[in-house]
Amino acid sequence: MSDFLTSDNLFGLVTGAYIVAGLLFIGALAGLSRHETAKLGNLAGMAGMGLALLATLLLAAQKAEIARERSFAVTLLLVLLMMAAGAAVGAWRARTVEMTGMPELVAMLHSFVGLAAVLVGINSYLELDGHADAAHDVEVFVGVFIGAVTFTGSVVAWAKLSGRMSSAPLTLPGRHLLNLAVIVASVLLMAWFVALDGELALGLVPLLAMTVLALLLGFHLVAAIGGGDMPVVVSMLNSYSGWAAAAAGFMLGNDLLIITGALVGSSGAILSYIMCKAMNRSFISVIAGGFGSDGGQAGGSDRDYGEHREIQADGVAELLANASSVVITPGYGMAVAQAQYPVAEMTRKLREKGVEVRFGIHPVAGRLPGHMNVLLAEAKVPYDIVLEMDEINDDFPDTDVVLVIGANDTVNPAALEEPGSPIAGMPVLEVWNARDVVVFKRSMATGYAGVQNPLFFKENTQMLFGDAKDRVTEIVAALG
Ligand code: TAP
Repeated sequence: MSDFLTSDNLFGLVTGAYIVAGLLFIGALAGLSRHETAKLGNLAGMAGMGLALLATLLLAAQKAEIARERSFAVTLLLVLLMMAAGAAVGAWRARTVEMTGMPELVAMLHSFVGLAAVLVGINSYLELDGHADAAHDVEVFVGVFIGAVTFTGSVVAWAKLSGRMSSAPLTLPGRHLLNLAVIVASVLLMAWFVALDGELALGLVPLLAMTVLALLLGFHLVAAIGGGDMPVVVSMLNSYSGWAAAAAGFMLGNDLLIITGALVGSSGAILSYIMCKAMNRSFISVIAGGFGSDGGQAGGSDRDYGEHREIQADGVAELLANASSVVITPGYGMAVAQAQYPVAEMTRKLREKGVEVRFGIHPVAGRLPGHMNVLLAEAKVPYDIVLEMDEINDDFPDTDVVLVIGANDTVNPAALEEPGSPIAGMPVLEVWNARDVVVFKRSMATGYAGVQNPLFFKENTQMLFGDAKDRVTEIVAALG
């Protein structure tokens, strides 16, 4: 190692690099908040993470050399080897994952953060031979607790989202009391843990007992959540994983990890809050778990809503050509069909004919926040015609034609009209107020929440069956 790096210079450089990386992370969040700057935001995040990794790697190698554990070069080599293995797996997963499989992948990645916090916590306890001060003991205990809850919670979320576990909520009797009991027991165990100064082996008893309890709590919290509410859970676990990382930062004395964890933790919490509002759920009940399982009976699927009407692609093309205002409300089915490209082409053609075309995006359309916006941006639909639900909901009565492309729950009037429905109270795109509504889907099957949709049976609604991409492509052809 060079003289330059063995000197105190390295510590100064690392601190500087951490500050720059922290600023880049904040810039990344700011950039990601708008379409136009999202790419730049991503680049800032990547640059910050690259810098942070490099600085941390050099710091770790330096510390190991000073402690005479390993030479600088050997540490670098070992860590780089592990990073290369991790990066290879990560790059492969990121390349192969379908956009619709992102929530599962994200849930799985959160579980790694949780597990890492547990391991870092236990290791940091063992490293100090149980002789840490009370503050460090609390850091370790809280860090392991959050990490363990995040770990099993994320594994359950992954299993539910990927269909490996039933999405029905697990409702144990007295489940809120059970959760409370685990929290109280963990606080008592923490008091014991802190009091046991210097007794390494004995200290492991409360630490590991709490770890087991927290693992069970994470499992129970997420298992109790019904399928329709999983989007909020994923973003909530995102927040937990941030706090777990921040806790690991405290344990390791790493300021950047604290900053990054706090950024992830608070942005995840804000996102969960926004999504709760979008679905008209209470934020507190999400945090307390068991959310989404108290609401209503399975949504009136036995009820007879009457007959639905069908239309063909050329009929839709005619409706569109004669319309002056069209709103497209896409959903998960557009993502599955990868229909965004023909949809963009259809939009372009209609606009050329002087038809006003806009998009109405529900906050939870698709399978992850911003899913539709990303797909439309990818297909180069101009940003200024892509509007949020609140911006467009009042305009439906003045709209000639609404095309519901692969969306279902997000346009379901039962949310407003049927108090017993599992999605009751969730704000929806009020498409039925338009003159004509065309629903693109393959069958009369229900959407993600498993609820029948009375929209399909309304007098001004017509169904266009088939794969959304094929059908939109036919409409584009018919538009000439
Ligand atoms: P959904 O309610 O899931 O409805 C999608 C519809 O697309 C289905 O009814 C399906 O009907 C149709 N479809 C599927 N493949 C298709 C294809 N190839 N061509 C044409 N249609 C196709 O979607 P949504 O309206 O976007 O609502 C989102 C739901 O997902 C909400 O319940 C939400 O809570 C949940 N969720 C959201 C998120 C976030 S954060 N956005 C995350 C996880 C879950 P057919 O099978 O008949 O074709």
